[in-house]
Amino acid sequence: MADFVDPIKTERLVLRPFTAADEADLLEFESLPEVARYLFNEPFDEEDNARALAKRRKQTSLAREGDTLVHAVEYDGKVIGWVQLVWVSVTHRQGEFGYVFHPGYGGKGFATEAAVEMLRIGFERLGLHRIYGRCDVRNEASARVMERIGMRREAHFVEAEIFKGEWGGELHYAMLDREWRASKWAS
Ligand SMILES: CC(C)(COP(=O)(O)OP(=O)(O)OC[C@H]1O[C@@H](n2cnc3c(N)ncnc32)[C@H](O)[C@@H]1OP(=O)(O)O)[C@@H](O)C(=O)NCCC(=O)NCCS
Repeated sequence: MADFVDPIKTERLVLRPFTAADEADLLEFESLPEVARYLFNEPFDEEDNARALAKRRKQTSLAREGDTLVHAVEYDGKVIGWVQLVWVSVTHRQGEFGYVFHPGYGGKGFATEAAVEMLRIGFERLGLHRIYGRCDVRNEASARVMERIGMRREAHFVEAEIFKGEWGGELHYAMLDREWRASKWAS
């Protein structure tokens, strides 16, 4: 499968590969404790941020199993978040998506609007059969994003891992290609 370097324009957003110029915008939200609260990483310092940006700048194609596509999400010329799609299995046509946004731009539907584009790529360009997303059981905003998209809650793993020093639970949501085609989001 090809590179995904061409910008994607939605109603209010532009999704496109990260560039070196995005460093300050990225640090502005990746450094916040509230953003890292339910992520596996801790809040970024400048060094963490530079390292993550260098890695994400290269994540522009889905060529083989295990590849991750990352898009910066721009609103009004500023990067306010990012979304990703992981090609989990070629044989089983499975993918996983994710999203991280600046809380200063929350509550406007931007994460939902951008995350849907990862599903579109997965289903309509990569031919995936099923795409799933996972979140901490306490991450209600993230669960609501997946519910708003119309994904099914498939599982609640209770205290299945030690997350940041305490027992953590995880919700799994998923959508199948036929559910995508029947949804309001399909092209
Ligand atoms: C998870 C996260 C992206 C959710 O952000 P969010 O702002 O709640 O999500 P959206 O941008 O899609 O906005 C949805 C909200 O805007 C409201 N909204 C306003 N205008 C809207 C519009 N035009 N379209 C859709 N929703 C709209 C919705 O009602 C919804 O509010 P509600 O959740 O109170 O019902 C954000 O909390 C985040 O980045 N957290 C830190 C990182 C993280 O945990 N990532 C997920 C890891 S699993």
